[in-house]
Amino acid sequence: MYATEFLDLPPLQGAAGTVRLPGSKSISNRLLLLAGLSEGRTVLHDLLDSDDTRVMIAALRQLGCRIEPQDGGLCVTGLGGRLEVRQAQLFLGNAGTAMRPLCAALALLSGLQGGEFEVSGVARMHERPIGDLVDALRGIGCRIDYLGNEGYPPLRLAGGQPRPGEPLRVRGDVSSQFLTALLLALPLMSEHGPVVIEVEGELISKPYIEITLNLLRRFGIEVARDEWRRFTIPAHSRYRSPGHVHVEGDASSASYFVALGAIAAEAARPVRIEGVGAESIQGDIRFVEAAEAMGAVVRQGPNWLEVSRGAWPLRALDLDCNHIPDAAMTLAVMALYADGPTRLRNIASWRVKETDRIAAMATELRKLGAHVIEGPDYIEVHPLAGDWRPAAIHTYDDHRVAMCFSLAAFNALAGARPGVPVRILDPKCVAKTFPDYFETLFSVAQARTADIPVITIDGPTASGKGTLASEVAQALGYHLLDSGALYRATALAALDAGIPADDEASLSRLAGRLALRFDGQRIELDGRDVTETLRREDVGLLASRVSALPGVRQALLELQLAFRRLPGLVADGRDMGTVIFPDARLKVFLTASAATRAERRHKQLISKGIPASIDDLRQDLEARDARDRSRSAAPLVPAEDAVSLDNSSLSIEESVQQVLAWWQQRRPV
Ligand code: DC
Repeated sequence: MYATEFLDLPPLQGAAGTVRLPGSKSISNRLLLLAGLSEGRTVLHDLLDSDDTRVMIAALRQLGCRIEPQDGGLCVTGLGGRLEVRQAQLFLGNAGTAMRPLCAALALLSGLQGGEFEVSGVARMHERPIGDLVDALRGIGCRIDYLGNEGYPPLRLAGGQPRPGEPLRVRGDVSSQFLTALLLALPLMSEHGPVVIEVEGELISKPYIEITLNLLRRFGIEVARDEWRRFTIPAHSRYRSPGHVHVEGDASSASYFVALGAIAAEAARPVRIEGVGAESIQGDIRFVEAAEAMGAVVRQGPNWLEVSRGAWPLRALDLDCNHIPDAAMTLAVMALYADGPTRLRNIASWRVKETDRIAAMATELRKLGAHVIEGPDYIEVHPLAGDWRPAAIHTYDDHRVAMCFSLAAFNALAGARPGVPVRILDPKCVAKTFPDYFETLFSVAQARTADIPVITIDGPTASGKGTLASEVAQALGYHLLDSGALYRATALAALDAGIPADDEASLSRLAGRLALRFDGQRIELDGRDVTETLRREDVGLLASRVSALPGVRQALLELQLAFRRLPGLVADGRDMGTVIFPDARLKVFLTASAATRAERRHKQLISKGIPASIDDLRQDLEARDARDRSRSAAPLVPAEDAVSLDNSSLSIEESVQQVLAWWQQRRPV
C-alpha cells in the first residue's frame, strides 16, 4: 500500500498481463455478518482484507464472535442468534456495508433480548443518511436514538419491543443497503411467523439485493420475492452455516482493469483478470457490457475475464447506470478517451456515497481539462484529445475516485504530447477495498523508460546518501537502489569464494551472476540475509577496490538499470547521475566535510559496540574518497547538471525536505 501523501503516475503507454482481484467487499461483509449470526463455525475463504472488512471483524469480535485464521481462511464462530455481549460501542469507520446491517441486527437483538449498543463512524459516515432504515425499524417497535444529527449516525440501539408479524416498510430509492440490512437481520424475528418487507418507491441498485438474497440462500434462508416490492422471510428461518464459503473477486474492482484493457491492451496481449467472470453473482459484473459498448473486446470464463482494446477512440455512451452505480465511476474516466460526450444517468445514489461522487468526479475531471456537465442525478463528460493538463487529483477519502483516476495516466494514447503525469493525492484511501491497487496496476502497466522518473543521489562515503535516498523514496513511494550494496555484495561473494581483489575477469563474472534479492530494506545473497554483513568494514574496503574495476562495473550495469520501474526510482551511489541514469530528472550531489562524516561513522560504530578512532576513520575516508575520485572508471564527480547539497549542518529531515522541494520544482504537477 502507498502510505505517501501523493503518488505521481507517469504517463502510461500500454498494459498487458494478469491480475488477481481481492475479494468482493459486498460479499465479504455480508458473509461476515451471516457467519456471525449463525450457529457454529463458518470458514470464509479469500475474504477481502481491507478497512471495511476490518471494522466489521472488529465489531463482531466485540460482540463476542470468535474469529481466527483456519485452513488459509478465516473461521467465524457465530452467536447463533443469541447476544453474548449486551453493551458495546462499535466504531465502523466509513463502512456502509457494516453500519447498515449491524444497525438493523443490533436494533432487533437489543429489542428481543435486551441490551444497549452505540454505533458510530468517521465524520463522513455521520453525513451518510440512515433515517429510512431507522424509520423502518422504529415502525415495528425498535428503539433507536440519534446521538448526533437527526437521520444520521451515530446511533444508540436500545431495546424497545419489536412486534413480530407486522410488515416493515422501507424506502428503496435512496440506498439499497437499507433493504439489504433488513433482509440480513430480520430472520432473527421469524420465530413467530413470516416477516414481510414492503419497499416504497423505485428500488435502486437491485443487483446488490440479488447478492444479499443469494448469500442468505447459502445460509439456509430462502426469501420469497414478489417483484421488487415485497420480500417475505419464511417463519422459523435460521441461519445455518454452510461450513466453508468462498468469496469471489470484487467486480467493482475489476472495472479498473477492464477499462485498462479497453484503453491500453493489444488484442494479442490482453489484460487477464482472475477472480470474477461470467458466473459472478455481483451486479457490477455488468460493467463488462458497458465497456463492450464503449469498444472493449472481452472474453470471459466462469471466473476470469480477458480484455483488450477494440474501438479507438472509445465509443461515447449514453447509459442508465442504476444497475452498476459503483463501477459506473470508471466509465466517467473512460469517457475522456471517447469519440464524443458520454452521459451517465440515474446515478443520484453517487451523492450519498463515500463522498458526493457526482461533484467529486466533475471537479477532478475538470482539473484534467475536461468539459463536464453535472445534474442532480447525471454527469456528462466530454472527451479530451491533445489538451490534457497535468493535475493533482483530490480523492475525498474515496477509494473509487483514487482508482478510477489512475486511468487518466494513459493520456498519451489519446494524443497528449507529451503525455502528462497524474498525481493522486492520499493514495492510501484505496485501502477501503483494494489496498494493493497501485502495485497491481504497476504490475501490468507499461511506461516508456524515459518517462519513469529517477532521482539520483551521489556522494562520498558516509555522506548520508543512503538514509537520504531511502527517506526520499519513501516519501514519494518510489523504488530504491542502493548501488553501493551491489559492490559490497560482489566483495562479500569474492571473500567467500576466495577470489583475489585484482582478478578482474573472475570478479566480473561473479558480479554478473550475483543472486541478489531485495525485500524492502533487507538484502539476500544466495538465499541468506546479508543486510548486516554487507556493512562490515572489511567488506566495504574490498568493495572500494573491486568497484574500481571496469569489468565489474559493466557486469552490474543491467542489474542497476532494471531498478527503474513504475512509479519511479531513487538511486544512490557514486555514478548514478553521471553513468547509470544520465537522464535522471533530479541529480543531487551530497557532500559533508570529512570531519563530519568521520564523526557520523564513529557514532555508528560505537553504537554497535565496535571500538574506533575518529582520526583513523577520517584518514580512511579521505583515502577512499581519493580512490573513488581518481579511478578511471566512473570516478566520483558531480554530474554537470547536479545540484549540490552540503548536509554538514543539516538534519536528515531538512535534507529530505530540500530534495523534495527541488523535486517539486521539476515536476509539472
Ligand atoms: O556507498 P557504499 O559505501 O555502500 O559503497 C561501497 C563501495 O562501492 C564504495 O567504496 C564505492 C563503491 N561504489 C561505487 O563505486 N559506485 C557506486 N555507484 C556505489 C558504490
